[in-house]
Amino acid sequence: MRISELLKSTAYNTEVVVKGWVRTKRGNKNVAFIALNDGSCVANIQIVVDLQKIAEEQLKSVTTGACIAVTGTLVESLGAGQGVEVQATSIEVYGTADPETYPLQKKGHSLEFLRDIAYLRPRTNTFGAVLRIRHAMAYAIHKFFNDKGFYYFHTPLITASDCEGAGAMFQVTTMDMNNLPKGEDGAIDYNQDFFGKPCSLTVSGQLEGELGALSLGQIYTFGPTFRAENSNTPRHLAEFWMIEPEMAFYELEDNMNLAEEFLKYLIRYALENCREDLEFMNKMWDKELIERLNFVLENDFVRLDYTEGIRILQESGRKFEFPCHWGCDLQSEHERYLVEEHFKRPVILINYPKEIKAFYMKQNEDGKTVRAMDVLFPKIGEIIGGSEREADYGKLRARIEELQIPEKDMWWYLDTRRWGSAPHSGFGLGFERLLLFVTGMGNIRDVIPFPRTPKNAEF
Ligand code: 4AD
Ligand code: MG
Repeated sequence: MRISELLKSTAYNTEVVVKGWVRTKRGNKNVAFIALNDGSCVANIQIVVDLQKIAEEQLKSVTTGACIAVTGTLVESLGAGQGVEVQATSIEVYGTADPETYPLQKKGHSLEFLRDIAYLRPRTNTFGAVLRIRHAMAYAIHKFFNDKGFYYFHTPLITASDCEGAGAMFQVTTMDMNNLPKGEDGAIDYNQDFFGKPCSLTVSGQLEGELGALSLGQIYTFGPTFRAENSNTPRHLAEFWMIEPEMAFYELEDNMNLAEEFLKYLIRYALENCREDLEFMNKMWDKELIERLNFVLENDFVRLDYTEGIRILQESGRKFEFPCHWGCDLQSEHERYLVEEHFKRPVILINYPKEIKAFYMKQNEDGKTVRAMDVLFPKIGEIIGGSEREADYGKLRARIEELQIPEKDMWWYLDTRRWGSAPHSGFGLGFERLLLFVTGMGNIRDVIPFPRTPKNAEF
C-alpha cells in the first residue's frame, strides 16, 4: 500500500506490506523505529521492529537511504503526531545505501547543495512536496482547459521560425561541426543539413498555436520551450515549460479575464488539493506562502496602462537601479514595485510601446502602442505575457517588413491573415514561474526536476 493511504487507514490489526526508502532509524537494544517514506506524501510511516522477533543483525543494512519492503501489522500508534504505525514481522532489503557515501545522510541540506545532486534531491521532503505540487498543477491546467472546451494542441519543438524575435535560440543540426559543408561563396550550405535549412528549438508554440485557434476555435499548448539567453537569474531557465492558450474571437479584455480566472483556478486547486505539501512549504521555506495564495484569490487584479505605470514609477520617488522612462522595458524591480508596494495586488499591465514587444501584437490606433498584456505577480514579477494578435494582413506584413524579419520564414504565418482571418488573442504562462509562486521557492532551479541553465546540463 502507498503510505499516503496507509496513514489514513483504520484497518487496525490487518497485515500490510509497505515499500519505500528509509529516512531514519533509531531505537535501543529492545526496539528499533524506522521512518519510511515512499514519495506519496510528505509524512513518513513509522515501522516498529521488536528486536526479539527480528534479529538486530538483519537491521544492519537498513540505513538512511536504503530501500526496503516491510511486512507487518497495522496498529494504532501511541506516539504523538501519527495515527498508525506498522509492527514489522519481516523486512526485505531491496537496495542498501552505504552511510559512508550516501549524500543525503543528514537532514537540513542547503538548496544550493541539493542543486549539485539534483539527481537525488527528489528523495528529500522539500523536493517531494515541490514535485507533487508540480504534478497537481499540470493536471489542473489540463482540467481547466478541458472543462472549458479547449483542445490540447501539439506544436513542434523543432522550428524554422523565431516567434519572439529575440534571437536567443538553440540551433538544431546534424552537421559535423568540425567539417561544415560550404557553398561556393564560403557560407555554410544548409541544403545539406537534416531539414535542408537552419532550424532551432522553439521559444514558443504560439505561431503554430494561432493556426489551431483559427480552426478549432480555442486551443492550448503545454510543452517545453527553449531560450538560449545567457541570463543567470533566479527566474530564468534555458529549458522551461509553457502553457499557451490561443482563442479565436477574443479581444484583449477577454484575454485578461481568462488569464485572471486561470491563475485563480490554479491557486485554488493547489489550496484544496495540495494542503499538506503547502503547509510543509509554508513551515519550512516561506511563512507567508498560504496567506499570499489566499490574498491573490480574494482580490481583483489591477488593470493598468503601461503609460500610467511609467508615470507611477517616475513619481514614486524611488531610486531604481535602472531608471525608467516611457519606452523602456520594465525590469523586475519596476514590476515588483508596482505589485508589492504601490498596488499591493497582482497587476495586468497593457498597451506597451510597440518597440519593446513582439511583431505579432495588434497595433493600437495611436501608432505607438500594441495590445500587449503582462500579468505581474508578487515575488515573481512577470508570470504571464500575452496579447491580442494583429489580424490584419496589411498591418502585419508591414510590421514584419519594418523589423526586417525574413518573409521566407513567415509566409505561412502571414497566410493565416489572408484566408479567414479573425480577431484572436492568447498568452503564455511560464509553468516554473507559476510553481515559484505556488510553492514559495525563491529560485526557479528548485521547481523543476532537472534544471537547464548556462553551463549546467549534467543530469
Ligand atoms: O513573455 P513571453 O516571452 O511570451 C511568449 O513567449 C508568447 N509567445 C506567449 C503567448 O502570447 N502565447 O513568455 C511567456 C512567459 C513569461 O511571462 C514567463 O512566465 C515565462 O514565459 N518565461 C520564462 N520562464 C522561465 N525561464 C525563462 N527563460 C522564461 N522566459 C519566459
Ligand atoms: Mg514577456
